[in-house]
Amino acid sequence: MSGDLKWNKIFGAALGTAFVILVVQQASGLIYHSEPPEKMGYFVDAPDEVAGAEQAELPPDWGTVLPTADLAAGEAAFARCQACHNATQGGADGIGPNLYGVVGGPVMHRAGFAYSDAMAKHKAEAPTWGYDQLNSFITAPARYVPGTKMSFAGIRDTQTRINLIAWLRSQGSSGFAIPAPDPARQPGAAAPAEGEAAPAEGAPATEATGEAPAVGEPATTQATPAAPPAATSPAPPNS
Ligand code: HEC
Repeated sequence: MSGDLKWNKIFGAALGTAFVILVVQQASGLIYHSEPPEKMGYFVDAPDEVAGAEQAELPPDWGTVLPTADLAAGEAAFARCQACHNATQGGADGIGPNLYGVVGGPVMHRAGFAYSDAMAKHKAEAPTWGYDQLNSFITAPARYVPGTKMSFAGIRDTQTRINLIAWLRSQGSSGFAIPAPDPARQPGAAAPAEGEAAPAEGAPATEATGEAPAVGEPATTQATPAAPPAATSPAPPNS
């Protein structure tokens, strides 16, 4: 008899424990219930996303923006480069090369500076620091020249880069010509191309509708195939 009681107690305790566990699980499920995020993962404000946006954007129209650039603002922006660069004539190389005359000059323009292999590779592809190349490099150095040892995140603001490039040009590169304004780079230049596409899409559409009745019999019956489209026309609201 005492043995039965003992087992009753053991089972009772086990059941009680299981019950408590279930209750706690359910309760914590209610308390700590959380919706799964719509997108998994962390949002990282990566330069790559900016890259996508900027590539869609037109490159600056240098012939228009350089003459009106704010040189003082450009010089102020150069403060961000000064930890590693100076742009004074005859200035020494630092962590980065001296930048006097770099605008329009050759990539790796300082003979004595130990550039990275990445920069040498870039030089083989794009030998000159033209306005577009500098702009791309300063936007995101590591994206434009993957593996560069210039550890600088980049300047995202287009006007700041324009001012900075204009000021750098004034440091030993004023002989590097400013190109004529380029209408293809002016805002809205992309719009006509979209407009042209619309009629082109319209043309095949009319051809297609013309073909549909032709599936039927020769010319005499064309009036009859014309009817089905009318009969079926109530259908589209359903679909
Ligand atoms: C943390 C240091 C550092 C900062 C900050 C920095 N740079 Fe550099 N920069 C370098 C180094 C190092 C190189 C050489 C890169 C290589 O060899 O890959 C370089 C290379 C360059 C070059 C190529 C020079 C040549 O002779 O081909 C330009 C142009 C340049 N930097 C411009 C800038 C500008 C403009 C800024 C500021 C917006 C800036 N850098 C900020 C370190 C820096």
